[in-house]
Amino acid sequence: MDRIEESVSAWPANGLPATLADRTRRVYDRMAAVYPVSTMLFHSRAHRCALEASGIADGMRVLEVATGSGEMFRRLVKANASGSTIGVDLSPNMAARTQRTARRKFPQSRTHCQAVDARHMPFRSEAFDAVFCCYMLELLSTEDIGRALREFRRVLRPEGRLTLVLIGQNTALFNAAYKLGGRVAPAFWGRQVERSVPQLIESARFQILDDRTVQQTFYPSRVLVAGR
Ligand SMILES: C[S@@+](CC[C@H](N)C(=O)[O-])C[C@H]1O[C@@H](n2cnc3c(N)ncnc32)[C@H](O)[C@@H]1O
Repeated sequence: MDRIEESVSAWPANGLPATLADRTRRVYDRMAAVYPVSTMLFHSRAHRCALEASGIADGMRVLEVATGSGEMFRRLVKANASGSTIGVDLSPNMAARTQRTARRKFPQSRTHCQAVDARHMPFRSEAFDAVFCCYMLELLSTEDIGRALREFRRVLRPEGRLTLVLIGQNTALFNAAYKLGGRVAPAFWGRQVERSVPQLIESARFQILDDRTVQQTFYPSRVLVAGR
């Protein structure tokens, strides 16, 4: 193979050069079956806290962005039994798994999940009462975090609430381990952004209403609730 053939064969099938988002989608697609273990061990306490802090009530139109394998999504569906709960994830396998398990456990509820990129979402403006996004911003560049936050604002109704969960940066040893993980597998770990996100939230014209920290074993999280 010559140099051109070699570089073209490294591109994904759609012919575009590989981007970090392509690699993130691929790696999370492969992790879909085993990801629930990691969520249970490290994210479940923060998910519970986010649900409580968000102020969601039954009957709302709720969007979860980056559902992963659907653990938070099922909490949302349960809390919003007579409303509608929509989930999106960049990884088609994650979205499919979330949809399958939610429909099996809550067959009467109005739920729908699909593969969507948070940076450009196919929803009309002001379509949702609440938007949730847990542990995704770490996987985006600063510019893309701004894009995603603007999308969250666009799809939220004026009195709607945005609930974010971020990986905490308050433990030096954990930060060092995370930095290493991020160097080895950036598409999977990303980088910690907890300290910079509050300012980005405010630049996207949100106002922070609640701010909590949670620790699950050695894994720190920060839960932020913001209003438009
Ligand atoms: C660390 S996992 C978190 C999953 C879940 N929210 C949780 O709390 O356990 C990050 C998820 O974000 C998704 N993701 C990454 N970039 C995304 C994007 N641009 N749009 C939508 N989802 C994205 C990944 O596919 C993955 O499922």
